[in-house]
Amino acid sequence: MSQLSVKHLLGIKNLTRDDIELIFETASNFKEVINRPIKKVPSLRDITIANIFFESSTRTRLSFELAEKRLSADVINFSSSTSSVKKGETLLDTVNNILAMKVDMVVMRHSSPGAPHFLARHIEANIINAGDGTHEHPTQALLDTFSMRQHFGSLKGLKVAIIGDILHSRVAISNIFALQKLGAEVMVCGPNTLLPVHISELGVKVELEVRKALEWCDVANILRIQLERQQIKYFPSLREYALYYGVNRTLLDSLKKEILIMHPGPINRGVEISSDVADSDHSIILEQVENGVAIRMAVLYLLADSPPAN
Ligand code: CP
Repeated sequence: MSQLSVKHLLGIKNLTRDDIELIFETASNFKEVINRPIKKVPSLRDITIANIFFESSTRTRLSFELAEKRLSADVINFSSSTSSVKKGETLLDTVNNILAMKVDMVVMRHSSPGAPHFLARHIEANIINAGDGTHEHPTQALLDTFSMRQHFGSLKGLKVAIIGDILHSRVAISNIFALQKLGAEVMVCGPNTLLPVHISELGVKVELEVRKALEWCDVANILRIQLERQQIKYFPSLREYALYYGVNRTLLDSLKKEILIMHPGPINRGVEISSDVADSDHSIILEQVENGVAIRMAVLYLLADSPPAN
């Protein structure tokens, strides 16, 4: 298989296991390329890509831009805070104006779940979801599972606990789909108020005690509390959250086993993760960021050669 089964990357849910394997294989090749003295290849020389971000981002936006430049694509960047969206322009009008400038691919982050799916129904360009509200963040899950595979060889039977604010997390949902497609076992852990009511219907284990989740898992993927999406109080205070759900050195040392520590970022030091865990030898947080560039190069490269419709 040398082509993806999809024209757009909207989520992990509609990718096949073969799609994911192809992205990993391609990313491994690109990882080698970006570690060479000459890091650039001409693969997307005739392609123009627009990065349109309606929500703030550091890692995803910079990683996509770097991936596009490493592939020699022409790149334009759009940020809603400095655009005519402020004057009342709709999403579709904004994107159609960008496409009128002969853009081939659109990377979009938006606070509304389904915004990239809406665009995919209305425009011809390839759409890549860089995070849509609380729905999916497919390239984050791909780089997370790629990073796990680098450490363990295979994800089959691997026990992964996703700990934190599951309710507001697109990273959790995309990770659950990706991990299950690759044969891993998944547990979600957090306070009852931050776990979606029907989450077990996705085939994941549910645990309320962080110690039990850590005792069970090989990998802990720790998520931040997304205060910007919380309209009500889900726990009494950040101090109390850190006390009951924060992963710290003392807790990990008491387990007498080693766990791989992951976090998609941005991290809130001293809340969901202590500095001595985030910066420890068992943490691969910056390795995840490094792998993000190779994964995004692979996604862009493969979508540029994707079937006309799906
Ligand atoms: N992990 C992640 O999506 O980070 P940013 O919000 O900084 O892009």
